[in-house]
Amino acid sequence: MRVNENYKNLDESYLFSTIAKKVKEFSEHNKDVEIIKLGIGDVTQPLCHAVIEALHSAVEEMGRKETFKGYGPEQGYDFLKEAILSYYDKNNVSLDLDEIFVSDGAKSDLGNILDLFDKDNIVLIPDPVYPVYVDTNIMAGRKIVFIDANENNGFLPMPNNSVKADIIYICSPNNPTGAVYNKEQLSVWVDYAIKNEAVILFDSAYESFIDDKNLPKSIYEVENAKKCAIEFCSFSKTAGFTGTRCGYTVVPNELVFNNSSLNKMWLRRQTTKFNGVSYIVQKGASAVFSEEGQKQIKQNLDYYKRNAKVISDTLDKLGIDYTGGKNSPYIWLKCPNNMNSWDFFDLLLTKIGIVGTPGAGFGNNGKNYFRLTSFNTLEKTQEAMERFYELFK
Ligand code: MLT
Repeated sequence: MRVNENYKNLDESYLFSTIAKKVKEFSEHNKDVEIIKLGIGDVTQPLCHAVIEALHSAVEEMGRKETFKGYGPEQGYDFLKEAILSYYDKNNVSLDLDEIFVSDGAKSDLGNILDLFDKDNIVLIPDPVYPVYVDTNIMAGRKIVFIDANENNGFLPMPNNSVKADIIYICSPNNPTGAVYNKEQLSVWVDYAIKNEAVILFDSAYESFIDDKNLPKSIYEVENAKKCAIEFCSFSKTAGFTGTRCGYTVVPNELVFNNSSLNKMWLRRQTTKFNGVSYIVQKGASAVFSEEGQKQIKQNLDYYKRNAKVISDTLDKLGIDYTGGKNSPYIWLKCPNNMNSWDFFDLLLTKIGIVGTPGAGFGNNGKNYFRLTSFNTLEKTQEAMERFYELFK
């Protein structure tokens, strides 16, 4: 037996596991410090009432002989796919039901989708970036080309026509920088992908944070995107499903490469390796799209947006540069005095008990940056930013 040697090329542990371990060690030795976590983008507000009601009634259905469900369709129940389809419709994107695939979250699909692509493809990934894109390709031994996202391009890199890529990752609103592409910029990426016969893997997990009506929530708002893009989305940040687990991926029927339909391949992959998301969770997820559900999740989203403002107001007062915080739950700040981001992480943890995410964990261009999230409670976010202000004023 030979192991997959590519794993040797990975960092020892996944970014957020490394941070969790460091925080645990610190708190074991400093029991008196009240730690406030603005690190991993994990939500704190409970599921909304409409979702809870739907979950309860689905549990009841599972307990009655007449309504009990066994295996469901691997690609998701129609009731949820129809709800997702109408949501896209509201943003003027029309999809077919068989283009939507329900899953247990965007992270798994972003990794699993790579089953469809040959190992010898060239992968284009922005730096800094959500580490899952990089790690999953390293595991498969693919060649990665990085494209710089930095202050000069507002953390929104554009294609370089002299670089040939086959698989392109775009996340907008971006994790970690909070920067958001406009339609014109995305349309340049779509043209580039079509010219190169490349596929774009578009991560729209943070679309529900977009308030600016001119910014696209889906890449399919851009003409021709269905010819080159797969879109990944999730209920995690939109409706607090980080622990409940549900997401969806859109694979348009127009995606045909070398006579192979990516939609048919993904269906084949999912029916073989996945048995679908539980009926109960899908019922809960579909309630997110009801009129009540939409109103209720908006309250939670507004709550996190208010936290983002608490963070960005403090940085404004201190004159610290940052991106994000608007149309995004993430705030990407420049470490004061150009500090190294892991040193800055240690400084915040040891001096004021605040946990954030060092930019270096997202790539080389993040080495002097730091990410804060707006997903904690208002009280804790306020307390954290008061401590932050006192330290840097
Ligand atoms: C993050 O903090 O970057 C995200 O919560 C990670 C994820 O969504 O998997």
